[in-house]
Amino acid sequence: MGLNVVILAAGKGTRMKSDIPKVMHKLAGVPMLERVVNTACELSPKSIQVVYGNGGDQVREALAHLPVKWVLQEEQLGTGHAVMQALPHCDDDDRILVLYGDVPLISSETLSQLVHNTADQAVGLVVTLLEDPTGMGRIVRDEMGNITAIVEHKDANEQQLKIKEINTGICTTSVRNLNTWLPALKNNNAQGEYYLTDIVSQAVQDGVSVGGILAKSVEEVQGVNDRWQLANLEHHYQYEMAKQLTLQGVAVMDVHRTYVRGNVQISQDVLLDVNVVMENDVKIGKHSRIGPNCCINNTVIGERCVIGAHSVIDGAILEDDCEVGPFARLRPGTVLKRGAKVGNFVELKKTTLGEGSKANHLAYLGDAEIGCRVNVGAGTITCNYDGANKHKTVIEDEVFIGTNNSLVAPLTLKKGATTGAGSTITHDVAADSLAVGRAKQRDISGWQRPLKKTKEPA
Ligand code: UD1
Ligand code: CA
Repeated sequence: MGLNVVILAAGKGTRMKSDIPKVMHKLAGVPMLERVVNTACELSPKSIQVVYGNGGDQVREALAHLPVKWVLQEEQLGTGHAVMQALPHCDDDDRILVLYGDVPLISSETLSQLVHNTADQAVGLVVTLLEDPTGMGRIVRDEMGNITAIVEHKDANEQQLKIKEINTGICTTSVRNLNTWLPALKNNNAQGEYYLTDIVSQAVQDGVSVGGILAKSVEEVQGVNDRWQLANLEHHYQYEMAKQLTLQGVAVMDVHRTYVRGNVQISQDVLLDVNVVMENDVKIGKHSRIGPNCCINNTVIGERCVIGAHSVIDGAILEDDCEVGPFARLRPGTVLKRGAKVGNFVELKKTTLGEGSKANHLAYLGDAEIGCRVNVGAGTITCNYDGANKHKTVIEDEVFIGTNNSLVAPLTLKKGATTGAGSTITHDVAADSLAVGRAKQRDISGWQRPLKKTKEPA
């Protein structure tokens, strides 16, 4: 029996108070809808359909890379009507699993449990218990404990309103059942909508069994209607992430102030100080220490590296034993070879800094290839851009660059070369020689400093 996942995402999301469509809002750096699609993919379904509404073209365009079929629901006439839009694209012998683009943290574990515990022609629901079930559809059971109906809050009587077991909306049954039940839905209810939830009473009438699976947590079935709910789910997600990291052996200095927005692989005995933001793919090797307020994006950090406070690292590769920061900026294409050091107020871009080389203070190194045991003096700038094109600077092993140098690329400093402080180096420097490119010092003796003008009397 093939599995067709149908993700409802046609709602407007007015309460987000945003120009951005609701399901495009990000949780931990990933649009909510994309999260749901990724989770659905883990079930290896036959197809994934996203039911979107008018104005949803923005979503479709932004998420065009997702392996889904986009199905337009022109008018939002209810969840039952929404699922009906997907039926023409499903085989009768298959089954449908209904998910929601604004329920971002649903786990594949709960979903596979639902799918596996629901017989081919039965109906399976994910349910949960809420202290305050206001607004939710209530699960109605008979004396035997069998589910007999779902009653929406607005349609519920006083007795039903007391029920704390609620419908999360996530459910599964066969395409064949839905082909029978959905076209027969009525909208004679408080909201004038075609409720998907009415399939439960239809199932009961047809003698089809209805089962409930309890969600693992309230958060995984929590829908997002406004930014406060989104913020709370984000907080929950980050806290869970921090918990996972600590249990894997990572020292997390404050579990409320660690931010993971992507896929991180962090080894044992890594220390994450407060306010470390990790985005996209980040890998950190054993015993490395990340100081407070660092942003790390798409980066691989080796073992025993020390990243000082307030460093921003994006698209870099750091081998073992490197030191970076505080206040360093590594931009895409930066490679630090083993034991390299980048100090405060140093920026690197598309640059390799060789083994044991150092750029300890105040430098810009762009489009440069720097060998081993090189010392880059404070204030060194690679002048890599002529206003039209970028040029390369090659600095071979054991070069010593004095402070405050301008290295005008294209340029090669051969092995063991030295440059004098304050030099502007415009052509290649031979191996083991000294290049000095600065104005000679002149001394003028008996120099009279300008005097301050005295104020004219008024
Ligand atoms: C629904 C359930 C309710 C459950 C609750 C959990 C129904 C009738 N009720 O209520 O039992 O407790 O979810 O949150 O299903 N959507 C469409 N097209 C439509 C209508 C809705 O795509 O025509 C989408 C919305 O974007 C939303 C989701 O379906 O993501 C739920 O719709 P909504 O109308 O908010 O249902 P609830 O009233 O929350
Ligand atoms: Ca809702």
